[in-house]
Amino acid sequence: HQQQLMARFDARIDDGGFIEAKDWMPDHYRRTLIRQISQHAHSEIVGMLPEGNWVTRAPTLKRKAILLAKIQDEGGHGLYLYAAAETLGRSRDELLADLHSGKAKYSSIFNYPTLTWADVGVIGWLVDGAAIMNQVPLCRCSYAPYARAMVRICREESFHQRQGYDALLAMMQQGTDAQRALVQDAVNRWWWPCLMMFGPPDAESVHTAQSMRWGIKRNSNDELRQKFVDATVQQAQVLGVSLPDPELTWNETRQHWDFGAIDWEEFWRVVGGDGPCNAERLAARVKAWDDGAWVREAALAHAAKEQARQTQ
Ligand code: 3HC
Repeated sequence: HQQQLMARFDARIDDGGFIEAKDWMPDHYRRTLIRQISQHAHSEIVGMLPEGNWVTRAPTLKRKAILLAKIQDEGGHGLYLYAAAETLGRSRDELLADLHSGKAKYSSIFNYPTLTWADVGVIGWLVDGAAIMNQVPLCRCSYAPYARAMVRICREESFHQRQGYDALLAMMQQGTDAQRALVQDAVNRWWWPCLMMFGPPDAESVHTAQSMRWGIKRNSNDELRQKFVDATVQQAQVLGVSLPDPELTWNETRQHWDFGAIDWEEFWRVVGGDGPCNAERLAARVKAWDDGAWVREAALAHAAKEQARQTQ
């Protein structure tokens, strides 16, 4: 009987079909989605921290309002994604406990510091730009609740990237030499960690083959990384910044930009918890969880009272 269920599931995936929460699915498929969706949600929530560092120091009220809206969006993305992960049978409390204990991962990119205001623009342009590359294919993920969450998230991500690029254009075109230097310095610090966001090289990716077989991953890590580089080189030229890779050259035969070697030792060190801000980011999340305990208790007590009132 198990074989029949598996054969029917595979046939559905091969036909480009979608799986709903109530449908039968192999345990491994379920576990893969819980892992990926929950870590995606953790990335959104932790991703609020680097930018939150600049809300009180935004240069104008307009930039402050935009930054607040973007950070609020990331929180909302986290909620959509935790809700999608919960449809697979793990509770939000369990997922968050895995983050707080260090058991679950979140995107390596958020373990780098935001040193100047230019970092906020570069995060919008490059980090959200990379996130869009990696998230658009997820709108067609075979697990339908995840795909639906991604459609809403991708709409907001394009605003995130545009506002970042716009802030950088303002600094580059109307700014001082010092401000232009801030932008170039931020690009130099964020470029390589953004390429690492797409994950390890395909040859070292333990999950890619199975995730592509199941229609969870529609493109490989290297494919999306290359797409991001190809799209970003021109944007950097328009902006008037250089990318910190002397080997970046157009390859006429490949019709892609060739780029230099990525420091995978740094990637695994950051993923392993030893990046510039890992300890600070996790401590901030644990503190927020502890400080918020009274709100959760009050909400539960209120809900229990409401329920008791209705059953009287
Ligand atoms: N940071 C941390 N861990 C990473 C990583 C990264 N940038 N890239 C890969 N890894 C981890 C994987 O999670 C996996 O570890 P695990 O088995 O413990 O989960 C291991 O490295 C092997 O990598 P694989 O490529 O084999 O793993 P995946 O098939 O899961 O691919 C992925 C990694 C491409 C990130 C995929 O999980 C994915 O597409 N996730 C959903 C999208 C996402 O999380 N994007 C991150 C950014 S979210 C964001 O930027 C918010 C935006 O608003 C700014």
